[in-house]
Amino acid sequence: MSIRRGRNMLLSPGPTNIPERVLRAMQRAAIELHSDELVGLARSCLDDLKPIFRITEGETFIYAANGHGAWESALSNSLSPGDRVLVFETGVFGEAWAGMGQSLGLVPEFIPGDWRHGIDPQAVEDRLRADKNHDFKAILMVQTDTASGITSDVAAVSEAIQSTGHPALFMVDAVASLAATDLRMDEWKIDVAVGASQKALMSPPGLAFVAASQRAMEHSDKATLPRHYWDWRRRLDPEAYMWFCGTAPEHLLFALREAIDMIQEEGLENIFRRHQRLADAVRAGINVWAEAGAMELNALVPREQSNSVSAILVDERYGAPNVRDYCEKHLNTSLGGGLGRLSGKAFRIGHMGDINEHIVLGALGSVELGLEMCGIPHGKGSVTAAIATLAASADRAEPPLAAD
Ligand SMILES: Cc1ncc(COP(=O)(O)O)c(C=O)c1O
Repeated sequence: MSIRRGRNMLLSPGPTNIPERVLRAMQRAAIELHSDELVGLARSCLDDLKPIFRITEGETFIYAANGHGAWESALSNSLSPGDRVLVFETGVFGEAWAGMGQSLGLVPEFIPGDWRHGIDPQAVEDRLRADKNHDFKAILMVQTDTASGITSDVAAVSEAIQSTGHPALFMVDAVASLAATDLRMDEWKIDVAVGASQKALMSPPGLAFVAASQRAMEHSDKATLPRHYWDWRRRLDPEAYMWFCGTAPEHLLFALREAIDMIQEEGLENIFRRHQRLADAVRAGINVWAEAGAMELNALVPREQSNSVSAILVDERYGAPNVRDYCEKHLNTSLGGGLGRLSGKAFRIGHMGDINEHIVLGALGSVELGLEMCGIPHGKGSVTAAIATLAASADRAEPPLAAD
């Protein structure tokens, strides 16, 4: 067995780096299920998720589950067997969510995409205008598709929906974007949004989050898809035991509370700016590698390039998986691989959650060494380019005091 010194640099786009504070918050004994402490902690997490989703009137739910659980909660609470749903392809996850809908008895219509562009709001508008009988009961979009590194414009899709007056519920998968990229449920008239703990929420995998608008809550009274564990109404019971449909995932809640504290201390706007700045630096580095013509950023439109994750397409002659393997085995640096139709053709750098400048610079340095060692042609100097980008956007240090 080879010994790998130093810290592992976890650059997969989920699970992400868990801050020491969050890890330490879990290092304690379990507490009594009905204690004021646990009930208060759970209530505070449910309440404090609302400003993260930017929802005021609706409800939030926390499940002992992953993102797939949040998807099932969203669909099963608000829809009925045979309901048609409109879904858009920007990578792996729209199709997977639609596939789940199909298993549950929904009828998805899938608008294909090329994985290199975000959702076209005009296509949304055109399809909804053509749906004169309002057969679609929900519109499902993924804000950031983690496979393609594409972030679609939720506000623009929302505007397109509003312009048609179509009454379908608007559902957004924010698993890879919540607390990294702006999401405004109230303002953008989102009915249901879903998230998970292991991405920009900086927590261990195992918690799923759902936020539902009042309109979605009203729909849930009529929706007839079978549900029990996921049932929103059951979880609004005054008895705290029911908020989790059973025993609360205590240690994950301890972790989440600490992570939410960190989010509150930094402030959402600052968090978005940090993600933008660091993602710009990563992209500056990738663009340097691209100069040799053997690789490029998958997302073609700059404003759609995700601030959470970058997918890098590599000329198939050179084998993207080699870079990932080399970085994992020799540099203690964990990257994401290509998913779905990018399998074997791309590697991914996650840059969301608890990340900073030195992580980004280290990531670029490691990957550039990996490219060198794997013999993949690349422009050199990604770290230098990233430093230039960071320096241009950072606050200037105070000039040194003049010696007297
Ligand atoms: C955008 C998006 N949606 C949904 C999921 C599914 O989440 P999970 O793997 O936690 O079930 C993922 C996972 O990476 C994701 O990136």
